[in-house]
Amino acid sequence: MIEKLQKTNLLDKLNEKEKSLIKQLESHPLFDCLPTINWENFIDILIQRRFLSFSIVNVYELVIDALSEEEIKKTVREILKEEFPRTCKGIPLLSHRELLFQDLLNLGATREKILTTPETDVTKKIREESLKIFTQNFDKEYFQVIIVAALRFWAEVLVSVEYSCLWRKISEHLSSPHGDSNKPRSEFYYFHMVHDARRSDLGKEAMIGKRTHSQELAIHLVERLICSENDLNCCLDVEEKACNLKCQFYDQFI
Ligand SMILES: [Fe+2]
Repeated sequence: MIEKLQKTNLLDKLNEKEKSLIKQLESHPLFDCLPTINWENFIDILIQRRFLSFSIVNVYELVIDALSEEEIKKTVREILKEEFPRTCKGIPLLSHRELLFQDLLNLGATREKILTTPETDVTKKIREESLKIFTQNFDKEYFQVIIVAALRFWAEVLVSVEYSCLWRKISEHLSSPHGDSNKPRSEFYYFHMVHDARRSDLGKEAMIGKRTHSQELAIHLVERLICSENDLNCCLDVEEKACNLKCQFYDQFI
């Protein structure tokens, strides 16, 4: 059994690294110059970003198949299920991709533009490279920790960071649930910014009450998966890769 002190040291190192990676993405030059970007160009960025959102479901399905522990699968399934909400009577509501489409329309993008703008070569490359993170380590001893760390950081923690940065401009036209009611309410960007967020350090997740997706996955990393220096190094490595891919995606717009 891993000593408590050793575990704390591992988590401290990972928490420190995560904070620095988050800072790295937040300080991407594109986010700095958002106020001066014209609206049409901003919409173009969001339309490219939508192609990455399509990958979320694929990645979640892929991780469910690749996971060996049922307890972790349950959490991943739960999060995936939220992508396709239903009423309490089981009637399907708008999926998160449909809500994204709706937010884009409310931001002024036309249906034609959203539907016909092609994916750029860079977006395609980033999308493919991101998917590879979840498969290329299949034969490695640390595959399980790698995919959970990657899923949490790439699909939740950094997504919330991206949307928090983009929200500064999105909020000129869309409101949060408690915001300016003269603007249409954001049904996608705002909620993902909130419910995906890292919100607490690894190891400090609340055991009761509503947790974010990042926190739900963090619990498995803390309790089951990060047990040695090697596990930690896998997390550091894959999280850095995920952050670099996000930065490279935004590089194409500057
Ligand atoms: Fe999420």
